Amino acid sequence: MSGEYDEVYQRACDDPEGFWQQAASGIDWYTEPKIVLDNSAPPFIKWFPDGVLNACYNALDRHVAGGRAEQAALIYDSPVTGTKQTFTYRELLDRVARFAGALKAQGIEKGDRVIIYMPMVPEATIAMLACARLGAIHSVVFGGFAANELAVRIDDVQAKMVLAASCGIEPGRLVPYKPLLDEAIELSAHKPETCIILQRDALAGEMVAGRDLDWSELEATATPADCTPVEAGHPLYVLYTSGTTGEPKGVVRDTGGCVVSLHWSMKHVYDINPGDVFWAASDVGWVVGHSYIVYGPLFNGSTSLLYEGKPVGTPDPGAYWRVIAEYGVKALFTAPTAFRAIKKEDPQGEYLKQYQLPSFETLYLAGERCDPDTLSWAEDKLKVPVIDHWWQTELGWPACSNCRGIELLPVVPGSPTKPVPGFVLEVLDGEGKVLPAGEIGALALKLPLPPGAFTTLWGNDERFVSSYFKTFPGYYETGDAGYIDTNGYVFVMARTDDVINVAGHRLSTGAMEEVLAAHPDVAECAVIGVTDAMKGQLPLGVMVLNDGVSRSEDEICREAIQSVREKIGPVAAFKLCTVVKRLPKTRSGKVLRATMRKIADNEVWKMPATIDDPVILDEITASLLTLGYPVN
Ligand code: COA
Ligand code: AMP
Repeated sequence: MSGEYDEVYQRACDDPEGFWQQAASGIDWYTEPKIVLDNSAPPFIKWFPDGVLNACYNALDRHVAGGRAEQAALIYDSPVTGTKQTFTYRELLDRVARFAGALKAQGIEKGDRVIIYMPMVPEATIAMLACARLGAIHSVVFGGFAANELAVRIDDVQAKMVLAASCGIEPGRLVPYKPLLDEAIELSAHKPETCIILQRDALAGEMVAGRDLDWSELEATATPADCTPVEAGHPLYVLYTSGTTGEPKGVVRDTGGCVVSLHWSMKHVYDINPGDVFWAASDVGWVVGHSYIVYGPLFNGSTSLLYEGKPVGTPDPGAYWRVIAEYGVKALFTAPTAFRAIKKEDPQGEYLKQYQLPSFETLYLAGERCDPDTLSWAEDKLKVPVIDHWWQTELGWPACSNCRGIELLPVVPGSPTKPVPGFVLEVLDGEGKVLPAGEIGALALKLPLPPGAFTTLWGNDERFVSSYFKTFPGYYETGDAGYIDTNGYVFVMARTDDVINVAGHRLSTGAMEEVLAAHPDVAECAVIGVTDAMKGQLPLGVMVLNDGVSRSEDEICREAIQSVREKIGPVAAFKLCTVVKRLPKTRSGKVLRATMRKIADNEVWKMPATIDDPVILDEITASLLTLGYPVN
């Protein structure tokens, strides 16, 4: 029905408490909240402060009790191991309750922090839900991060326990997780008491006596544990994300806001009903995995797909179509990169012709800007609406989307459509003044943020306030720039900080600069994000060497590349590096990163009026050319 979106959006603006109280009645509480919002100390907002609930109960127990026991809860499809496995709600509850019992027997209780370092196996989901069952706070670390990044997170969250698999499986290579975990614990100042290791057939890990325990043995003999009721504000998880420095930010998600918002979004944003099959082709290590592989679909009584594979190469660019056809997927959520990868290998969509996809209704894309070419290719080949939507780890669920479950608005390429009910988005200038339609500025969300948005940064209220709420009082600063057109459509154009987006993965150039700067031969450096046809962006390092260094520049670049891989991880995809005599700077000493990026991307650029020595830019241009930039 036309006008439905406007009506729902306006209702959420006019009466947020009434709106979210109604949404909260869709989930199960031990104690229903009487207070909907405590906004007495912004930006520290408390939704449903007197409510008591359990996230795992809402994901599993209530569906088993409510008649969905024999329905599929989780489908595991792993082309890299040749495994397919379906868990009904009853089976998943049984595994989770047992594993929670195992954790409890090892002393895990409400409030303890547990790091999960696992690939895309069902046990990763089981681990998250088992923690939630006990009120323990999980922190999942993406498998593509190196030992050092894992150590930083173990220290920051003060993990009592680590749950890990012996290895991950990437196409063409095994990733031995266990040695990485051992190294991380060597590096960390805080030592977890216990590690529980899932031994995978592909590669077993060596156990450390007195610290490491075998997952399967513990789970087999455990007594199932019940749900621990927690207050709505109790953290469900901490998820680290990249900021502008090398120190990651521990985004804290409260239980009540998370359950209510994700449950609401499944129907209203994604148009997914209980019993429908939803597939978020991401990784449990990212927010998309938390919200839409594990929690959202299960809170909703839907079926979630856990896919251990890639869009291409496992075995071919028809992999996504095979999975959609085989399991009757209604909606797929992935990053535009995945589609660019498929399009590159199968531009005519020949593989798609091998499958019938009668169940498939919508493709959702997020994680990076969706270029109109990729959008129209996907629309043309799939013949379903392709919905670009915009959100962030901090927000927990989409802030701008075409809310198909409310009303499908016309798709405008390059735009994630309009703000989702609950989010009030404005475009601000440097002084915090609201800009008129069509003008580019900082994208900022008016406080209070809706349920499900982060409540603080772990152990760092001060950084929470200074990073997000200082620049524009009364607003949350998203770190993205863009504009809203006269029809109310939002356009997200770029980051306003040093965060880049590589294959939909959010990375900090600041963190990479810290690694390069630590090389003994490097005097100073800059890392910029340059355009890449497949991954959206790639990091490119420009280094100045110390006086007197006579070693080969190529060798130093190779070492720097290896260092980023070892310290941050392969996910950084740091492979472009060059040496120059000086970095271009303003007279006040600020490195002109934006100018270098524009040169590399072949964009129109102006000589900055404040540059200290214009000739340097010629050398930079010549150096970038040796790396293949600008690409014609
Ligand atoms: N564990 C260990 N290593 C991992 C990993 C994991 N979970 N995930 C990725 N890596 C490694 C890869 O093996 C690769 O290593 P390499 O340098 O030795 O080749 C490196 O990290 C970069 O990985 P990736 O960015 O995935 O690039 P790719 O070239 O292997 O694959 C795509 C390209 C497009 C197929 C892939 O990026 C993809 O599937 N993207 C989908 C988007 C997505 O999932 N986004 C998440 C947010 S929604
Ligand atoms: P993450 O926290 O990893 O989800 O990354 C969030 C960032 O990714 C945002 O701040 C944006 O810069 C970018 N992003 C996510 N979705 C989109 C989108 N649909 N369009 C443009 N940028 C996006």
